[in-house]
Amino acid sequence: MAIFFEEDKKLFHLTALNTSYVFQILDAGEVVHRYWGRKYTGNICELMLKDFESRAFSPEHREGVSLDLLLQEYPSSQYGDFREPAYEIVATDGSMMSLLKYKSHRIVQGKAKLEELPATYSDDENDVQTLYLILVDEVIGLEIELQYSVFERKNAITRSVRFINRGDDDIDLQRAFSMSIDFDHSDFKLLHLAGAWARERSIIVEDLEPGIKSIQSRRGASSHQHNPFMALINKNTTEDNGDVFGFSFVYSGNFLAQAEVDQFDKTRVQMGVNPSSFSWLLESGEEFQTPEVVMVYSCSGLGGMSRTYHDLYRENLCRGWYKDKVRPVLANSWEAMYFDFTSDDIVAFAKSAGELGIELVVMDDGWFGKRDQKLLARDVPSSSLGDWYVNSNKIPEGIAELAKKVQQQGVGFGIWFEPEMVSPDSDLFRLHPDWCIQVEGRSMCLSRGQHILDLTRKDVCDYIVKIVSDVLGSGLVSYVKWDMNRNMSNIGSKALPKKRQREVPHRYILGLYSVLERLITAFPNVLFEGCAGGGGRFDPGMLQYMPQLWTSDNTDAISRIGIQIGTSVVYPSIVMGCHVSDVPNHQTGRVTSLKFRGDVAMMGNLGYELDLQKISGEKRKEIKEQIRFYKDIRETVQFGDMYWLGDTDYGKVIGVQYISKDKKNVLVFIYEPFENPNLSTKMVKLKGLNSKATYLLLASNVMTSAQQLMDVGLEVKIPAIDSSMFLQLEMIY
Ligand code: GLA
Repeated sequence: MAIFFEEDKKLFHLTALNTSYVFQILDAGEVVHRYWGRKYTGNICELMLKDFESRAFSPEHREGVSLDLLLQEYPSSQYGDFREPAYEIVATDGSMMSLLKYKSHRIVQGKAKLEELPATYSDDENDVQTLYLILVDEVIGLEIELQYSVFERKNAITRSVRFINRGDDDIDLQRAFSMSIDFDHSDFKLLHLAGAWARERSIIVEDLEPGIKSIQSRRGASSHQHNPFMALINKNTTEDNGDVFGFSFVYSGNFLAQAEVDQFDKTRVQMGVNPSSFSWLLESGEEFQTPEVVMVYSCSGLGGMSRTYHDLYRENLCRGWYKDKVRPVLANSWEAMYFDFTSDDIVAFAKSAGELGIELVVMDDGWFGKRDQKLLARDVPSSSLGDWYVNSNKIPEGIAELAKKVQQQGVGFGIWFEPEMVSPDSDLFRLHPDWCIQVEGRSMCLSRGQHILDLTRKDVCDYIVKIVSDVLGSGLVSYVKWDMNRNMSNIGSKALPKKRQREVPHRYILGLYSVLERLITAFPNVLFEGCAGGGGRFDPGMLQYMPQLWTSDNTDAISRIGIQIGTSVVYPSIVMGCHVSDVPNHQTGRVTSLKFRGDVAMMGNLGYELDLQKISGEKRKEIKEQIRFYKDIRETVQFGDMYWLGDTDYGKVIGVQYISKDKKNVLVFIYEPFENPNLSTKMVKLKGLNSKATYLLLASNVMTSAQQLMDVGLEVKIPAIDSSMFLQLEMIY
C-alpha cells in the first residue's frame, strides 16, 4: 500500500521509498497541503500549522479562514488568495470566481492511461497506486479530479488533473495547471535547465526571492530555451547530499513552471500547459485532461533525484521493442554529406560503416522532393518539405532498393523525415495552402523557409501517417529520425471555430501524439529518434513514443560535455544521441582529439557523423577500436546507474561513472577538456559501489576495496593531449 486515508482526520498519506506526501481535507472541504519530504512515520497532525489566522489584507471566504494563508493542493481564484491560482475559468455570466470543495475520492491499484496524452505507466499493477480526489465548484457545476499516482519503490509521485463540466452552461477554462504545491518556507534555491539552439540545457541555480521566478515555452514545442523541468533544492544541497524536490513535465508543447515566494515566505510551485495562448471551451458534459507532472523527492542530493528520473523514464515512460534493448551504433549522413549525395554515396558510406562495426546507417535530409524536372529538389533547406516522394535524380532505384543495398553491407537502414512541416515551394503547399497553422487575413512568418502543418486537423494527421507509412511499409527501414525545425507563430487554424482558436497549440500537440501513437503501433520494430534542430523538443512527452532523442546539433565534444551533463539531470544516457563528428568541428571550429570525442560520445548512444570514407590509416583503426570497446561497455552505460564525479558545484564535474545495477561493472570517464599541460594527479572518489566488495582495476590489475575507492579515491592523471581518460573496474568478491 502506498496511499493511506485516515478517515477521522480526513488525512491522505502518500508514501514511496523514502518519501511522504500528506494533505488533508478541512471541515468545509478545502484541501490543504501538510507535508512533502523525507518519509514520515509519526503523527502529522501533531505538527500541523495553524490554519486559522487573521491577517491584514487577507480576505476570508468563510468566517476566520482565508485562502491567502492556507497551504493548498489546488488553489482556485478570486476567493481571497492573491497568489497564483492553479486554474482559472470564465463562466457564461463573465464571472471569474471559483471555489472547490472536496466531494469524494477513490484509491485504486495501478495507473490508468491518460486520454490522448503520454504518461508514466507500469505493467505491474503492484508497482503503483492511484488516488482520484474529486472536488467540485457547485455554483457552475465544475468537477475537478486531482489524480495522484505513487510509484512505491521509486520516490516518484505523478500528478495530473481532469476537468469535467457537469453544469448546463459553457465554462471557459483559461488556465489548467497539472499541479500546485505550497511549501511552508522559501529556504530554497531554484535549479533549471536553460539554453538555446546548439547550447541546450545548461544548469542554472538561482536564489528564490519574494516574487515569482518562472521558466516557460511559448514556442509550440518544449523548446531549446527551457526544458520542462525545475527543482527546488535546499541551500546546502550538493550532488550527493541534501534535499531536492524535482518537477518534470510529460509534455512537448508550451509550458509554464513557476515558483512564487509570498509575503510570508511560503513557496508555491506550479507547472502545466502555458496559460499564454491557451484556453479551452468546456461545453456541458465535456472534459479536459491535463498532462502529467512527475515529482521526485531525493534526500541524497541532485544525483539521487536524477537516478530516480533515469530509472522511471527508462522503465516506466519509454515503450516498445527497443525499450530494453541496447541501442545500435549508427552513422548519420548529415555532417558527412549534407544535401549532396546520391544512392551510390549512401551505399559507399554504409560499406565503410559496416567495416568499422557500425550497425545502422541513417540517410538524413535531402532524399526527397523531385517528381519532375520543373520542381526544386531538397538541395536547400527552403524547399520540398511535404513532398515525401523520392528524388529520382539522387536515388533512381527508390528507397526499398537502396535499403536492400545498404543492408547488404551488413548494416541496418534508417531515414530522416520532417513530417510536421511544409515548404512554400512544394506540391503539398500548392495543393493545400489551408493546411498550415495560420490566421485568416494575416501573413505567415517563415522560419528555416518553412511553415507548420496544422496538426489540429484530422486530414493533416492522416496525411502524415500515410506518407511515413508508405516508406516504412516496405519493412526495410529499421530507424526513423523524426525532425522538427521551427517554432510556432501566427497561431490559428482554418478548421476550428473562432471560440476555439486559443486551443490550437495544445490541440497541435495532441494531434502530434495521435500520429506518433498510430505509427509506433503500426511499426513496433522501428526505432524512432526524435529531433528538433537538435534538442528543441527533448522532453518526457516525446520519450513515450521515441526512446531516443538527438541531444543537440552541436557535436563539439567540449560543448557536448556541458550539454550532456545538463541533460543527464533528468534524462538517462540511453535516450541521448551522442555522435563523434569531424574536426575542425562544424559548429565551433574547434579541434579535439578523436579519443576525447569518442569518450564524450560514449556518455549516451554512440554514433558517427562524419565522412567515414575520408578516414584512413591509424584513425580508422582507432574508430574501429572505439566501436568494439563501446559495444563491450554499452550495456552498463545504457542500463546502469550514473554518477557525476567531483562534488558540489552543479555541472562542474570532472567525470562520469556508470555502474551496472548488480554493481559488478564500473566505468569511469574523466575529462580535462581544456588540455592544460603539467597537471598533477587527482584523487577521484568513486560512488555507489558495493561497499563490502573488492574491485579490480583492469588497466593495472590492482585490487582495491570499495571503501578505499569511495573514501580515499582512485589516483588518476590525464594525458594532456587526449583530454580524457577511461578506467574500468570489475567487482571480484
Ligand atoms: C536539423 C537536425 C540535423 C539535421 C538537419 C537536416 O537541424 O537537427 O541533425 O537532420 O536538421 O536538415
